[in-house]
Amino acid sequence: MKHFLKETDFKRAELPKLFALARELKLKRGKKNAPKPLQGQTWAMIFSKSSTRTRVSFEVGIHELGGNPLFLNRNDIQLGRGETIEDTAQVLSRFVHGLIVRTFDHSDVERLAATGSVPVVNALTDFLHPCQIYSDAFTLAERWTKGTTGAKLVDSLRGRKIAFLGDTACNMANSWILGANLFGMKISLSGPKEFAPSAEFNAALAKEGYAGGYQFTTDPFEAVRGADVVYTDVWVSMGKEEETKERIRVMSPYAVTGKLFAAAKRDSLFMHCLPAHAGEEVMQEVLDSPRSIIFDEAENRLHMQKAILAAIVAARK
Ligand code: CP
Repeated sequence: MKHFLKETDFKRAELPKLFALARELKLKRGKKNAPKPLQGQTWAMIFSKSSTRTRVSFEVGIHELGGNPLFLNRNDIQLGRGETIEDTAQVLSRFVHGLIVRTFDHSDVERLAATGSVPVVNALTDFLHPCQIYSDAFTLAERWTKGTTGAKLVDSLRGRKIAFLGDTACNMANSWILGANLFGMKISLSGPKEFAPSAEFNAALAKEGYAGGYQFTTDPFEAVRGADVVYTDVWVSMGKEEETKERIRVMSPYAVTGKLFAAAKRDSLFMHCLPAHAGEEVMQEVLDSPRSIIFDEAENRLHMQKAILAAIVAARK
């Protein structure tokens, strides 16, 4: 059973076909010849956290692939009243063709995958956000190949450098470290030392064969030197609201200002998974820069996630 719980659930050899499919689905969107591999299928979307991009792109994407999205707020189903993940996985597997899950604890998606009998897609956990990283990588590949289809998309990522600023222990930082290693990119992270990648994450990285596959520095200017991409995320992830004041205090030296962005390569690109807090982790002038590609990456959530679902369905046949 093919699940997508972490970046490495697609092997490197599978990526050219996946990226080419995302490109094809993007070009054929709304056309008569658009593929419908989810025809007759219902995919449940169990969300325990707020979402704009992920929810809407999956709902629209499933519909465009011929399927039926079934949105389930965790608190509207018995899971929110204590029914076990294992029972929920087995019951929903009798009704639907796949589960798309946004939750807090990463072990939730692993337990759903282990006990259910349908594919599970990670739509964000506190540990990883793989759908975002694949969509981001596709967005960069489109830029660097000027829209080429096929293997060149993935090849264009190799050797490029991404700098990740701010909370470098968050799910987006973890996911970008895994993704950068998978795509053959270099990654440099910079934030307060108490927010360096966690021991738990380092152990997971080693298990994937990527031990030490990143650089960490407390100097943001060192991190962005020679970078092709400057990336940040909000400093207060969902569930960390009580730490807001202290996080803003210690992370403010890592805000992506115009001066910091200018220290990266002249043709570097700015990315943010959104939502952004302008004036905190990034300044408005950077969000508005012609080299900011934040809305392209948001749009590509739709095309890449459709490709991921299509690939998962194809793997079941
Ligand atoms: N980037 C992202 O996952 O956005 P949402 O939280 O709005 O889904």
